[in-house]
Amino acid sequence: MKAAVYDAPGVPAVLEYVDMPDPVCGPRDVLISVEAISVEGGDLINRRSTEHRSRWIVGYAAAGTIVAVGENVQHRTVGEKVAAFNMQGSHAELWAVPETRTWLVPDGLSMAEAAILPISFGTAYHCVITKGQLRAAETVLIHAAAGGVGLAAVQLARQTGAKVIAVASGNERQARLRALGASYLIDRHNQDVVEEVQRLTGGKGADLVIDPVGSTLQSSLMALAPEGCLVFVGNAGGGGLAVDLWQPMQNNQTLHGVFMGALFERRAVHETVDILLRAAAERRLEVVIDRTFSLKDAASAHEHAERAKPLGRVVMKV
Ligand SMILES: NC(=O)c1ccc[n+]([C@@H]2O[C@H](COP(=O)([O-])OP(=O)(O)OC[C@H]3O[C@@H](n4cnc5c(N)ncnc54)[C@H](OP(=O)(O)O)[C@@H]3O)[C@@H](O)[C@H]2O)c1
Repeated sequence: MKAAVYDAPGVPAVLEYVDMPDPVCGPRDVLISVEAISVEGGDLINRRSTEHRSRWIVGYAAAGTIVAVGENVQHRTVGEKVAAFNMQGSHAELWAVPETRTWLVPDGLSMAEAAILPISFGTAYHCVITKGQLRAAETVLIHAAAGGVGLAAVQLARQTGAKVIAVASGNERQARLRALGASYLIDRHNQDVVEEVQRLTGGKGADLVIDPVGSTLQSSLMALAPEGCLVFVGNAGGGGLAVDLWQPMQNNQTLHGVFMGALFERRAVHETVDILLRAAAERRLEVVIDRTFSLKDAASAHEHAERAKPLGRVVMKV
């Protein structure tokens, strides 16, 4: 098969489009003929900074058609169209994934939308609803709102009836976020996020903060209301995650870390993604796509995702 691989982490150009051995379909795996690949924020971080063995196939998310199933597979058959998640390997023509990490693609959803939805919306749902427990009368602050997780979080938060404060840069992105349900926009390059949140909430702070950026954690705490909840879910801002815990202790605040990984196989989480897929197929949620590339141009796709300030996901077609 063909795949986009790297030997050593670095700039997008480290990705090479090469021949690789077909993946082995294990006893509980399905083998997917990949049609659409979602370029995730985490894929960029991995390619930039994570050492692996050589000829490493990056990629968490894709959708395609099952072409083989392992001997112990119970709920999937050849010919079914599925969206899938795994810790690596999606930037390829073929992908072997445990059946428990796949979801059937409902009618009405494109394969590109299906590739994107599980991680972005599944993660956002876990942050905003399962851990964040957002309620109608509350205010939520969403960092990196124009990113994949952020765009999903804004929509899910809005559907609770809560007031949504979204952080994103650029007029076009802000207009789109407003259309998707953001009540207030903050441009992190031109405005002070903490000051704006305090102003918009009459000095109370946000009841819930969703932080996929990491480098913003300390200011997230400063924007959080007493007894509020901070959900931290990534490091799009680069570097480690560190906060002084004195303030959350004094203010009876709750911090939830979210790492979806194996959680996607947990029954309730898996079923939630099924529900989200149907909601998107019925156009009750919008999966925003910025631009589509071919897998053979994976380096350009990563370059665009990293540098062009996309609004929505970058997708690769096989
Ligand atoms: N824990 C989990 O299970 C899980 C699941 C999914 C994703 N994640 C993580 O969540 C993070 C976001 O993922 P994603 O797929 O949504 O990423 P993405 O689509 O690449 O978006 C990242 C966003 O971060 C913003 N950003 C970048 N640097 C920033 C900085 N220094 N300060 C503030 N904002 C900054 C950018 O927006 P602006 O430049 O417009 O501000 C950009 O829109 C990544 O770290 C990813 O690994 C974790």
